Amino acid sequence: MPNQLRNLIIVFAIFVGLFLTARHFLVPKTFGDLGHYRADALQYNIDHEKKFVDTTLCSNCHTDISNSKYVGAHKLINCQTCHGAGNKHIENPTINKMEKSSEREFCAKCHAKNLARSSTVIKQVDITKHNIDSKCVNCHNPHSPEIKMAQVASNQNKKDEPAICIMCHDKIDKIKTKGMHKSVPCQSCHGEGLNHIKSPSKSNMFKPSKREFCGKCHGIGIAPKSKGIKQIDLKEHNIENKCIDCHIGHNPLEFK
Ligand code: HEC
Ligand code: HEC
Ligand code: HEC
Ligand code: HEC
Ligand code: HEC
Ligand code: HEC
Ligand code: HEC
Ligand code: HEC
Repeated sequence: MPNQLRNLIIVFAIFVGLFLTARHFLVPKTFGDLGHYRADALQYNIDHEKKFVDTTLCSNCHTDISNSKYVGAHKLINCQTCHGAGNKHIENPTINKMEKSSEREFCAKCHAKNLARSSTVIKQVDITKHNIDSKCVNCHNPHSPEIKMAQVASNQNKKDEPAICIMCHDKIDKIKTKGMHKSVPCQSCHGEGLNHIKSPSKSNMFKPSKREFCGKCHGIGIAPKSKGIKQIDLKEHNIENKCIDCHIGHNPLEFK
């Protein structure tokens, strides 16, 4: 046999050897079992048990959310696109939780600036610049993301009514309505804030912390007695601490 031919056969044999070794390690064990070009997804931790269900089932139990979603900019997005497959959840909602993320990165999956995508189809924001100090869901309700800001804008003249604050701070209002301060408007403690309403991150509200502040309504000899608000003596009642070291401002008979 000529030398050239022998070398050629050796090189060829090495290639075949390398190919077979690589194939052995790279191709999944279940290759072929499930049809052409498919491997068993379980090997990659994909949960076969998860299945998408008819979305009208979600509306049966989550009527309010479903109703608010169908009038908003997210109306075309399926609940399960954001919350994951729901087959287990509908069987037992308290044990089988849905996925739920309020992180900025989650919204960025669809809205982050990306020149390769059309911004007329999905509006884009630069998430390194757009209101960076806060979670998206503090300002945008995920189920009707544009309505809140539009409502806030059209209600600016009602800046002295708690309703305008509740548009963005509904979670705080839920805490407040459970407690003794339910009748005290947000503005009585935080002041009015037209700039804050227009651009929350750029203009912060006043946050009361001094004893004298609470004393304006509760201090014996300071607050007018006629209002029937419970009074304490500022010079006696737990003088070592600030009021809010113990009382939670939004629900004052709950303690820290
Ligand atoms: C665009 C993504 C998106 C879509 C579509 C969506 N959700 Fe949500 N959902 C969220 C996010 C984000 C939260 C978490 C909000 C938070 O933490 O403040 C949430 C929270 C919830 C909650 C918890 C309660 C609450 O109000 O925080 C329920 C229940 C819920 N969604 C049900 C649904 C149902 C039912 C649908 C379909 C009608 C749906 N969601 C569609 C993103 C979405
Ligand atoms: C049989 C009624 C029922 C159906 C159907 C149902 N849910 Fe729920 N869902 C609930 C209840 C009850 C809770 C509150 C569970 C808790 O807090 O323990 C809940 C909670 C949630 C939450 C908050 C996160 C969590 O898991 O606690 C999300 C998100 C959610 N559901 C989305 C959906 C979606 C999407 C669908 C449709 C695929 C759906 N739900 C169908 C009853 C239901
Ligand atoms: C699965 C993709 C997807 C996800 C995830 C998603 N969105 Fe959207 N969003 C859309 C689409 C599609 C529209 C409608 C087209 C448009 O107006 O950009 C929309 C519209 C909006 C609008 C209205 C823009 C306007 O002025 O018309 C806002 C605001 C918004 N989304 C915020 C959010 C926030 C906040 C989150 C996270 C809780 C989120 N989106 C998650 C796809 C998504
Ligand atoms: C502090 C409040 C605030 C936060 C936090 C916030 N936004 Fe906004 N967003 C606004 C306001 C106000 C507008 C409308 C005016 C504007 O364009 O700036 C808006 C507009 C948008 C729009 C429409 C842009 C357009 O071209 O019309 C999208 C999409 C959006 N936001 C997505 C997001 C996402 C995603 C996040 C989180 C990464 C987020 N927003 C966080 C207040 C907020
Ligand atoms: C458009 C949505 C929006 C409206 C309307 C709004 N806020 Fe805010 N507010 C926010 C966001 C977002 C933050 C968090 C700001 C940040 O950290 O960037 C915030 C923060 C605050 C803080 C904390 C400031 C701090 O220093 O920690 C107070 C207090 C507050 N808001 C009170 C109010 C009151 C009172 C009203 C009504 C007069 C109101 N807000 C209306 C979105 C809003
Ligand atoms: C009785 C006075 C009082 C009223 C009424 C009140 N707050 Fe507050 N709020 C406080 C105090 C005090 C703090 C600071 C709490 C702390 O630092 O521990 C605070 C803190 C906050 C914060 C900062 C985040 C936090 O939870 O600490 C926000 C946002 C806020 N309030 C919004 C509101 C809104 C919206 C309303 C109306 C629904 C409201 N507040 C009504 C006293 C009040
Ligand atoms: C604008 C006036 C106002 C301010 C400011 C105010 N409160 Fe109140 N507070 C009220 C009213 C009204 C009630 C409900 C009537 C009542 O029960 O005294 C109340 C109730 C309470 C109660 C429950 C009293 C009871 O046993 O019935 C406590 C505790 C309290 N406030 C603590 C505080 C603290 C701490 C602060 C400061 C962070 C504060 N308040 C600021 C008006 C105010
Ligand atoms: C060291 C914790 C602590 C501090 C600080 C504190 N409190 Fe209290 N406060 C309590 C406790 C506990 C109660 C309920 C038991 C009681 O009646 O003494 C209470 C009760 C009250 C009541 C209801 C009184 C009644 O007659 O039912 C008011 C009003 C009140 N506090 C306001 C304030 C104000 C305003 C401040 C700040 C100037 C303040 N507290 C500081 C712990 C505290």
